Amino acid sequence: MRTSAKIPELTADEAAELIDDGQFVGFSGFTAAGSCKAVPRALAKRARALHDRGDPFRIRVITGASTNEDLDEALAQASAISWRAPYQSSRTLRKQINTQEASFLDIHLSHLPQMLDYGFLGELDVAVVEATDVTSDGRIYLSTSVGVTPSILNKAKRIVVELNDAHSPRLWEMHDIARLRPPPHRLPIPVHSPMSKIGTPFCAVNPQKIVGIVRTSEPDGVPPFSPPDPASAKIAAHVVKFLVGEMRAGHIPAEFLPLQAGVGNVSNAVMAALGEHPDIPKFEMYTEVLQDAQIAVMQNGKLLGASTSALTLSDACMAQVFENMDFFGPRIVLRPQEISNNPGVVRRLGVVTLNTVLEMDIYGCANSTHVCGTQLMNGIGGSGDFVRHGYLSILMAPSTAKGGRISTVVPMCSHVDHNEHSIQALVTEHGLADLRGLGPVERAHTIIETCADPQYRDYLRRYLEEAPLGHIRHDLSRCFDLHRAYQETGDMRFAVGAGATT
Ligand code: COA
Repeated sequence: MRTSAKIPELTADEAAELIDDGQFVGFSGFTAAGSCKAVPRALAKRARALHDRGDPFRIRVITGASTNEDLDEALAQASAISWRAPYQSSRTLRKQINTQEASFLDIHLSHLPQMLDYGFLGELDVAVVEATDVTSDGRIYLSTSVGVTPSILNKAKRIVVELNDAHSPRLWEMHDIARLRPPPHRLPIPVHSPMSKIGTPFCAVNPQKIVGIVRTSEPDGVPPFSPPDPASAKIAAHVVKFLVGEMRAGHIPAEFLPLQAGVGNVSNAVMAALGEHPDIPKFEMYTEVLQDAQIAVMQNGKLLGASTSALTLSDACMAQVFENMDFFGPRIVLRPQEISNNPGVVRRLGVVTLNTVLEMDIYGCANSTHVCGTQLMNGIGGSGDFVRHGYLSILMAPSTAKGGRISTVVPMCSHVDHNEHSIQALVTEHGLADLRGLGPVERAHTIIETCADPQYRDYLRRYLEEAPLGHIRHDLSRCFDLHRAYQETGDMRFAVGAGATT
């Protein structure tokens, strides 16, 4: 441990006292991986005490992506967040965003560092970052994620370091911290393969900005993944069959292409299935989150290496990685999100992208973020960075939600995050629709017959046949009838004419 004796040690409560009402605070964290723990908890306590006295306390919060219960959830429960970017998955904060109590900026994760650097988001007052080590000359060794932390450290006026000894002190072996020059002086990023290293294993900051260290000893607390449900298992089987076919057809080279997989149980199931399939060769990943399934695939030798911005691993899986750093250290690269999600690198490497959506429409547009076009779920996250620029972009969803009351295949998406120009294939448990080379109406037939749940197919076929002619056929008076039925009755099947059966 090189931790500098010169930096003052603070309790979490003392660190929280350094943050005032109305300030803009950057926290480390990209999912629960590397999210700050003790200081945001203490801040939530401070906010409650101030509110009880009748004093205001709300801050503007930026992180790499979503966080843990100690950060977004605890601060939102204490009504302490006024503004948030760029992604979140907290129950309470989601409600506050959807009732306009908190403001939310939903942007591509790769854009965030540049927006911060150029001051579009305001002046950053304080950075609170989790690290495994810090030195008196200003080297900060980050923990289980990188995300936007290098930019936060660069921009913040003051820095508090949460030094967490629950993480392996050898995590620096995975870190590759590189910053991009501002345009027009930006050079090509020399990441020529997922495992290329182009930076340093630490963030370098002005040591005078570091105002204190808070010692902690807590794992990230990522919950274990549940075994794949039947729909996820079928989606995984369709994806694997498709990728094997693409390889046999010569569309994917024999050495395979790097994969990106979004967060969640569907992705976890797909990764596990890819790992088990005998015809899928050894491969690499260029992705933003690494989950438990990928670690298992790495251990069995199929996943040769992975570039990511976060180790989103359950505590048991993380412990396994820490115990085997000789094996995992050289096989994982942890990068800033501006590089892990960089559109130029994603396009150059020919990444095959696999992401989950809320709904898809019959022409191949997809909605990842807003239920019925109005209610935020989490945010676009990194999905847009990868979907728009991948060699082959595949979007996945179960064909229905809420026990069949919602069809995830609809005439027109109520909000569009990914459009038909960027997407090559859509998958549900019923099948994979390969959309390459198809015009809009051919796409519509393929998506309805392949992806839609059978109980919604007749309705969608009728919609298509009865819509006025056009390059894209839509009936603007009816295109949201399914959504309207769901809002009015809680069941899209009322619009289909079959009525609800459950
Ligand atoms: N309309 C309304 N609700 C819907 C819906 C729809 N079309 N589709 C799904 N839902 C509901 C589900 O019923 C579930 O609700 P519940 O929590 O009350 O059970 C919830 O949305 C989440 O759905 P789930 O099937 O559990 O999906 P998930 O955990 O795989 O998440 C996304 C799906 C789209 C919300 C998630 O992948 C996401 O936020 N994506 C955007 C960011 C991203 O893709 N990042 C990629 C790089 S990591």
